[in-house]
Amino acid sequence: MSKPRILVTRRWPVAVETVLSERFDTTLNKDDVALEAGQLREALLTYDAVLPTVSDKLPSQLFEGEAIRTKILGNFGVGFNHIDVAAAKERGVVVTNTPGVLTDCTADIAMLLLLSVARRGGEGEREVRAGAWTGWRPTHLVGTKVTGKTVGIIGFGRIGRAFAQRCHFGFGMDVVFYNRSAIDPMEASRYGAMQLQTVEDVLEVSDFVSLHCPGGAENRHLMNADRFTAMKPGAFLINTARGDVVDEAALVTALERGTIRGAGLDVYEAEPHVPERLREMDNVVLLPHLGSATEETRTAMGMKVVDNITAFFAGHQPPDRVV
Ligand code: DGY
Repeated sequence: MSKPRILVTRRWPVAVETVLSERFDTTLNKDDVALEAGQLREALLTYDAVLPTVSDKLPSQLFEGEAIRTKILGNFGVGFNHIDVAAAKERGVVVTNTPGVLTDCTADIAMLLLLSVARRGGEGEREVRAGAWTGWRPTHLVGTKVTGKTVGIIGFGRIGRAFAQRCHFGFGMDVVFYNRSAIDPMEASRYGAMQLQTVEDVLEVSDFVSLHCPGGAENRHLMNADRFTAMKPGAFLINTARGDVVDEAALVTALERGTIRGAGLDVYEAEPHVPERLREMDNVVLLPHLGSATEETRTAMGMKVVDNITAFFAGHQPPDRVV
């Protein structure tokens, strides 16, 4: 029996590409250039499985028209707001993701952003590299103390909890959170956290607000102009979730006007585009979507995709099926 034809849309860790090539009739993207919409459409017509990442936009139009050959999209990533899953489902395409394995590393990046923006790490690094440091002085690059402050978490899933744990037990912070569904207070207390009723309740009391909810229609622009105004004056926003959770234009205005003090961002509305006005500000720390970027985690994510498509083509339920 011939092996399923699969397309891997970007370079993946070598260990994962090796397993995929052994098990399937695999096409790799050796140049690692993101595919255009037309190439993705072509891929849906010619491969049994397409393995996309967040850089591959798969809106409903790509699933329309001529019958597609693809039976499974094995997404490399936990977030899947770049795929119109309703359209995929309608065309009988299974979609899987990679939950669980990137929890700690993404929470670490949120912590990195919180510390960097509070303690002005990015500014300091730029100053040293530019050869502009003139020496120690009591008023130099004075930041905001983290220990003892309140952090507000929006979305108390795996990553939100891991971040709460770091903030509370690692940095002595008070942790409050908003989550759509009620979390057992005993469970919340394991992470040193307390649930509040509304997003506004969280914004009102938090020195740092960190986003850990999914992207996509339900949370689009959850942080908008009104909500920036509802934040404590002098508070910071951290976003390692998805760019579309934040109204980026409203964020820029809030930062420029001093409505909030700063932001640490790993994700953006139109990646890889980062607005110039943001890039010009010293009170923001900007990372290029590094949440899961460790050797261990990227390999584990790839192996999850391998497990999902292996199960699927063996006629079993893929462990991380989304639709
Ligand atoms: C994820 O897993 O969702 C990361 O953000 C990469 O897409």
